[in-house]
Amino acid sequence: MASIHILGLGNMGKYVAYAIMRQRQQAAFASTPPTTLLFHRPGLLAEWQSAGLSIRYTAMTSQGPVEGPPVQGFSVDLLDSTVATKIRYLIVATKAHATAAALVPLRHRLDARSHILFLQNGMGMV
Ligand SMILES: NC(=O)c1ccc[n+]([C@@H]2O[C@H](COP(=O)([O-])OP(=O)(O)OC[C@H]3O[C@@H](n4cnc5c(N)ncnc54)[C@H](OP(=O)(O)O)[C@@H]3O)[C@@H](O)[C@H]2O)c1
Repeated sequence: MASIHILGLGNMGKYVAYAIMRQRQQAAFASTPPTTLLFHRPGLLAEWQSAGLSIRYTAMTSQGPVEGPPVQGFSVDLLDSTVATKIRYLIVATKAHATAAALVPLRHRLDARSHILFLQNGMGMV
């Protein structure tokens, strides 16, 4: 099954990755595609390892912060020109002004069958 790749792993990108993986782990939604996190700098790999290869979600409620279980099971890819596997589904969650530069290292992995969802404020995708 083609993976959903996520580019831009700040607040929005990590939240979306978490939500997709949580859904995939429910029996009724087992057909949800797997998720691949795209790391644009090597330091992110070390951060990911020290986070236990997981994403945690803290909900702010009227009773205070409530932390959900850590979610694991993600694949990760370092943005590297030697990786040539095509990307079928891509979610871009960088700040809008960073969009064009962020897509350059992925150009060779996108083709007419790629679907890209931009989750951003602003006009960077134009
Ligand atoms: N956060 C929200 O609640 C929220 C709500 C509605 C809309 N939005 C919109 O969603 C978008 C993302 O917001 P955010 O809050 O998630 O921003 P953010 O926390 O700053 O995340 C942006 C991420 O993009 C990464 N990035 C920068 N350059 C990159 C590149 N060349 N390649 C790949 N990744 C790159 C940044 O990494 P570095 O650490 O290297 O800079 C950072 O991890 C924005 O357009 C924002 O307006 C956000």
